[in-house]
Amino acid sequence: MDWDGLLDYVGRPAILKPFSGGGWKHVYKVNDKEELLAAYDKTSPYCMTLQEFIDFNQYVRCFTFGKTDIVPVHYDPKERKYLVDHQYLTPELGARVVKDAQTINQALGYEMNTIEFAVNDGVPYAIDFLNPAPDFERDRITEFYFEQVVEKMARLVIDRALNGKASNPWPRWEEMLGIGAAAGFTGAPKSASAGQRSAAAPAARSAQGS
Ligand SMILES: Nc1ncnc2c1ncn2[C@@H]1O[C@H](COP(=O)(O)OP(=O)(O)OP(=O)(O)O)[C@@H](O)[C@H]1O
Ligand SMILES: [Mg+2]
Repeated sequence: MDWDGLLDYVGRPAILKPFSGGGWKHVYKVNDKEELLAAYDKTSPYCMTLQEFIDFNQYVRCFTFGKTDIVPVHYDPKERKYLVDHQYLTPELGARVVKDAQTINQALGYEMNTIEFAVNDGVPYAIDFLNPAPDFERDRITEFYFEQVVEKMARLVIDRALNGKASNPWPRWEEMLGIGAAAGFTGAPKSASAGQRSAAAPAARSAQGS
């Protein structure tokens, strides 16, 4: 493995962490190859990812419901605390965060997720976006957001139950990259590929509208 090549690519320092973790377990900031290897050697059997370190001055956690309904929340990672602060993001930054979160959910096919953005100099970087079983604990997310989450999640589930419309979980890379109609990906069951083709037109329309 070309460890220095990996560090050259993401930059130094870098963050080594599980590709899908929680509670800061096995999250390491590393400055060089020696620190990277020492950290990596503590992480068996987890699948790890190496990320660019973002020197953030703002931090946002987004609750997401049904891929496109995004609620960005001011979060203090040092205190590990959600804050109710509706003026935290400028309208421009808020719109960018929402749009990027929608794109990520559409690419992943996630209907329920928490997406975390570290913001450096007004630019949001998605640093943790694989949280399909998010933290919805009342004491952690504040009473205000707990009410919203219960309401929105309940509406989503009831809508799915009443309308019986299966969501399309398969990534539609061709559409997202603007290079043609979705063709499915290797491993998708045949029924899912068929559903995906028929869902292609509405998805393209909604992408143009966003
Ligand atoms: N790429 C990065 N650049 C800068 N800081 C980072 C980066 N990735 C993670 N961190 C820091 O480490 C913390 C934990 O990272 P992350 O959210 O990926 O782990 P986690 O185990 O999911 O933690 P949590 O359960 O608190 O969300 C972040 O809140 C942030 O402070
Ligand atoms: Mg996280």
